[in-house]
Amino acid sequence: MANVHPQDVLRALGSVRDPSQGRDVVSLGWVRDVEVGHDRVSLTLAVPNPASPTIEQLSRSTREAVAALGVHDVQVKIAAQPAAQPRAAASLIPGVKHTIAVASGKGGVGKSTVAANLAVALREAGRQVGLMDTDVYGPSVPMLMGGRAEPRVVEGKIEPPVEYGIKIISMAYFLPKNEAVIWRGPMLHKTISQFLGDVRWGELDYLVMDLPPGTGDIQLSLAQTIPLTGAVIVSTPQDLALTVASKAIAMFQKLNVPILGIIENMSHYVCPQCGHRDDIFGHGGAREASARMGFAFLGEIPLETSIRVRSDRGEPVALDRTSPHGQAFQAVAAALEQQVQAAGSRAAEVSIE
Ligand SMILES: Nc1ncnc2c1ncn2[C@@H]1O[C@H](COP(=O)(O)OP(=O)(O)O)[C@@H](O)[C@H]1O
Ligand SMILES: [Mg+2]
Repeated sequence: MANVHPQDVLRALGSVRDPSQGRDVVSLGWVRDVEVGHDRVSLTLAVPNPASPTIEQLSRSTREAVAALGVHDVQVKIAAQPAAQPRAAASLIPGVKHTIAVASGKGGVGKSTVAANLAVALREAGRQVGLMDTDVYGPSVPMLMGGRAEPRVVEGKIEPPVEYGIKIISMAYFLPKNEAVIWRGPMLHKTISQFLGDVRWGELDYLVMDLPPGTGDIQLSLAQTIPLTGAVIVSTPQDLALTVASKAIAMFQKLNVPILGIIENMSHYVCPQCGHRDDIFGHGGAREASARMGFAFLGEIPLETSIRVRSDRGEPVALDRTSPHGQAFQAVAAALEQQVQAAGSRAAEVSIE
């Protein structure tokens, strides 16, 4: 027989179309467990509906396509696709259109600051926005957003406090003050599900989620609990150069979470006295790295004392639309919305339903 490789099998199957979808089984992602032995190929087609009347024909044309490679013994198993888990869990937050995870490779890069200001900028652009603090180790969203209100329980559901028109929820509301909490994986998972399911989020265009730094249990739980529209990576210029952010990127890719883009924070310093611009951490690193890795660059936020001062006061700078920082965050929010739309149409393209 011909020397057949799994790639040859996939190439051959690229011409096998499912009659009901009108697309080939490879790009539909149905081909699994391709095994090539001596004069023998076995594979599984994981289909959405094994009972469909077209399956018989599909199975036959799959066998024929592989046989055409000169293989005599072709086994095609038909299996049911496991129900997409995130889809099922979408009912946890039925009114939320898009979920955006704000992540970083390490702490202290301004992830929470960016998440809060991004939420504000989206709200300023007229969207309905929620902001969820999933950083159970260092929850800072309530402080960043003013922290005036507290959540209330109404009819067994948590009513999130609203700050600057944004519904916010944070572990900080539920943790005993000044006590170290040790989290185990299962506990985190339960907390995340509760945050999502027991909170009355209502109708939202965006739920922005401030993730803890790095690549831990929370990120995993989130990606497994709800369908994330995508992740935004916050990075300082040198952080990307040192590939710290790449670890976070790789993790989301492994979890099949689209990377919506990269934001460079603490990008450059503008001296408030003389207006001189200083690229303390180097400049343009994130833009270059984004391009190199094929991700969208969503924009840069300068390193500015007023950003920290106003953050500490619980008045996100993005509230001031006309300020340079306000405009920087508006631009980032607009770029993000563009990527969300692009991701949406890509998802529709590969949708199997
Ligand atoms: N662009 C910026 N300019 C000045 N200070 C900033 C900027 N971004 C964040 N900070 C400050 O840096 C510190 C860390 O930011 P934070 O958002 O808490 O980071 P992370 O959530 O990544 O740990 C905070 O004191 C914050 O006010
Ligand atoms: Mg933080």
